[in-house]
Amino acid sequence: MMRNTPVNAQPKFALLFVCLGNICRSPSAEAVMQRLIQKTGLSERFLCDSAGTSAAHAGEPADIRSQRAAAQRGYHVTSISRQVTKDDLRSFDMIIAMDDANQQALYRMAANEQERTKIFRFVDFCQSTHPGEVPDPYYGGAKGFEEVLDILEDGCNGILAHAKLHR
Ligand code: 4NP
Repeated sequence: MMRNTPVNAQPKFALLFVCLGNICRSPSAEAVMQRLIQKTGLSERFLCDSAGTSAAHAGEPADIRSQRAAAQRGYHVTSISRQVTKDDLRSFDMIIAMDDANQQALYRMAANEQERTKIFRFVDFCQSTHPGEVPDPYYGGAKGFEEVLDILEDGCNGILAHAKLHR
């Protein structure tokens, strides 16, 4: 009998990026990570997604400024905003918060210690940039979107290295 999935196939290790609105930082992180996963030939092992702690922009595409800044670097930001759910805390393997408020919101959603241990801060994986948080670019100028991308490119490398060790 032909099978689409090998009998011994492992489920993919699932990464979820979380910011406030899911229209600037986390969709950009998803796009940066998606390309990194593809570039490193790891698409069979890893998947990524993004969500927001707020539902204010649910159903919307990413902010056009994020899309354009990312496109300049060859990333396709295609996600549609959605709010993070309790189910995400159960089903994703790593849930990565863009700032401390996002992390606190995720901790409040976690049902138990096992879910709490899956919650991380993005900046803790950065090596060449040293931000306190991934700064919210929404109310600022174009420079903020570039800064976010610099931080995301740095941290995504660290996150994938960590995920490869823990998968
Ligand atoms: P994000 O940025 O959390 O990176 O998607 C924001 C988007 C929208 C708002 C704030 C931050 N807002 O206040 O609508």
